[in-house]
Amino acid sequence: MRSAALADIAAEASSCTRCALAATRTKVVFGAGDPEARLLFVGEGPGRDEDLQGEPFVGRSGKLLDRLIAEELGTDRSRCYIANVVKCRPPQNRDPKPDEMAACRPFLDRQLAVIAPAVVVTLGNVATRALLRTADGIRSLRGRAYPFGDAMLVPTYHPAAALRSGGEVVAEMRADLVRAKRLLAAAGPLGGGAPQGAGERARGPLP
Ligand code: URA
Repeated sequence: MRSAALADIAAEASSCTRCALAATRTKVVFGAGDPEARLLFVGEGPGRDEDLQGEPFVGRSGKLLDRLIAEELGTDRSRCYIANVVKCRPPQNRDPKPDEMAACRPFLDRQLAVIAPAVVVTLGNVATRALLRTADGIRSLRGRAYPFGDAMLVPTYHPAAALRSGGEVVAEMRADLVRAKRLLAAAGPLGGGAPQGAGERARGPLP
């Protein structure tokens, strides 16, 4: 059910020309992972490797993300879902522009509504600001969880920032993922559907 719904949205995104990024992309990077995931990561937008392969977080940032998912959550990306604020690569890896994010937002909102994760982890300033609709920065926003529709949102750094800055930022990312893990434990298993006794309604759509 969820996978068919996501496939429909992905098919629509694959030929999208709603913003200028369509002209320079190689592949649309719709998102990847378990349609039943309880944990959904949201990044900023595809980089060069992702644009070429059509998969999110497959470059150096992705390798760090995979490692932190394994070490702090005890799982792997196949049991989570990974999406981005924009589905096409901004040239020269610049931040996505407001009109590009606005044009792409319905795709992300529909992914969130179909997957209905228990916990959303935003990676970096762009994703965190977009989802929490704030201009505050990740340094002040991280360190706690925020209600996000029926889910909880845990902001953390973008793995590229952790690669640039090293030690302390990685340690804070680890702490954020532990926060996400605790929230997931309260909400049920990491992948493969709702906790026993919880129905479709308990997973709930996100706004
Ligand atoms: N950075 C992102 O924000 N998303 C990706 O998919 C890859 C790198």
